[in-house]
Formats: sequence, C-alpha cells, structure tokens
Amino acid sequence: MKSSAFVRTRRLAQAGSFFLFLRAALSAQTPAPPAPASPSPSAPISYSAVHVDGPYIAMTFDDGPSAKLTPELLDILAAHHIHATFFVVGENAIAHPEILQRAVREGHEIGNHSWSHPAFAKMSDAKVRSELQKTDDAIRAALGGRPVLLRPPYGSITLRQKRWINQEFGYRIILWDVDPLDWKRPGPSVITSRIVKETRPGSIILSHDIHPGTIKAMPETFDELQAKGFKFVTVSELIAMGTPMPPKQQLGSEGPTPLSSPGAATPSPSPAPSAGAGLTTP
Ligand code: NI
Repeated sequence: MKSSAFVRTRRLAQAGSFFLFLRAALSAQTPAPPAPASPSPSAPISYSAVHVDGPYIAMTFDDGPSAKLTPELLDILAAHHIHATFFVVGENAIAHPEILQRAVREGHEIGNHSWSHPAFAKMSDAKVRSELQKTDDAIRAALGGRPVLLRPPYGSITLRQKRWINQEFGYRIILWDVDPLDWKRPGPSVITSRIVKETRPGSIILSHDIHPGTIKAMPETFDELQAKGFKFVTVSELIAMGTPMPPKQQLGSEGPTPLSSPGAATPSPSPAPSAGAGLTTP
C-alpha cells in the first residue's frame, strides 16, 4: 500500500502540472490585450462589424471542427499567416479536441456556436443555457480555458437573450456583416468574389469549415484580400481595436452603448445587415 504522504506528494505534483497546463492554455486562448471575461456595463455586447482605424478584418468559420476539412484549412491559414476565429459546435468539438488544440496553438480563437445548432430565438432559457454550457464545458476540457465569444446558430437570438447570456456567461455575441452564403454551395469562385466584394475595414466575415467548396475558395480569397491590403485578426483582437464611431454614423445600438465606449459596435439586427452598414469605407 502507498503511504498517505506519497499519495499527497503525487497529488500535489499532478495538481502543479495541471495548473501549468491551465495557465498555458488560458494564455494561448486569450490574445493580448486579453478580452475581459465580463465586459464592463458600458461595453457593447453584440457586434456584426467593428469600427476600426485600419484595414483590419476577422475571418470566421462556423459549424466545425471537421475531421478532414478543418486541418486542411489550418494548413491554408498557416501558409497565409492568417489568424481566424472558429465558432465550434459542441458535438464536433468534443469529438476532435486535438483540432481545437492545434487551432489555438497556431494563434486562432475558438468561440461557442451551441451544442447541437438549434435556433435560439424561440427556445426556453433553460434549453439555451444547456446548449451553451455543454459547449463551454467541451471547449474548456479541450483547451483549459473558456471561450469569450458566442455566435448564435443562424444569427437567431433575441435582444433579451443577448443580455442574459452576456451577464451569465460573459460572452460577446458575434454576428457578421459579410455573408457569402457558402452553405448553399455556390462554388469556390462565387464564394471568393462575394467575400472580396463585400469586405470593408472592420468586417466580420461568415463562412463554414464543413463545406469543401469553402475550403477550396480560401487560398484565392485570402490572396485577393491581402492584395487589397486587408489584415486578418481574430474577433477578440478586432473588438480590442475598435474606435468610437462619429456621432452621425452612430445608426443605433443595443443596450447601453455610449459614444465613448471602446470598441464601438455597429448595429446588429438578425439577420445581419448588408456589408459595411455604418462603417467608414476606405
Ligand atoms: Ni452555424
């Protein structure tokens, strides 16, 4: 039998290495400057784009990870030196924690996209809470840190839901202003041309890493956007770069959003508005 002192020492050692892992994973998950777990009461809680001074954009990929396509996409992103944001479905995240770990190791951000991809707007709070918590748990199990972003499936979410989810989970709600409708599988060249045509500084671009055509479209899409001078950052990095919008462009806001708030949100109804609404174009 093991002595209790030995067991205690071993437990301490295990706990120590666990905390080291936790610290590493947490710092990997939160880019500098770190996004606060609970945004201040005056910070916007919902974004479809961000008002920024510079050619910064955020590419987002939903519904994965896919065992085959997401690693292919990670290779393409690495070749282009691009950091993206993955809104993962919990059912897929729990099946492929190693893909989430690789993504974070390579500088990408992971957000919550629900457990089973239902439309939140007509669901009970208890069911929404369960969808969010299970995926939060799956991401934490894979990465050691919690996500700070939520993208509701289909962009389906009420203002009341945005508020309680932000209060309870600390999530910012991320919609989009560029939608190439890649889930309709229009073909890679159409996906590329729609994204390149609609993207503005501060854009949040929606796409899906579960469709082969989307992955095929990305090398040319990235080439063309980079040729136009756009620089890719994660969604949390884009929000951290946000600057206040001039009053005349403040088309509306959700919740308490004073003009002086850092990271001014553009209005974000569901579904998302047409590209660049409320943004200064280059
Ligand atoms: Ni989705």
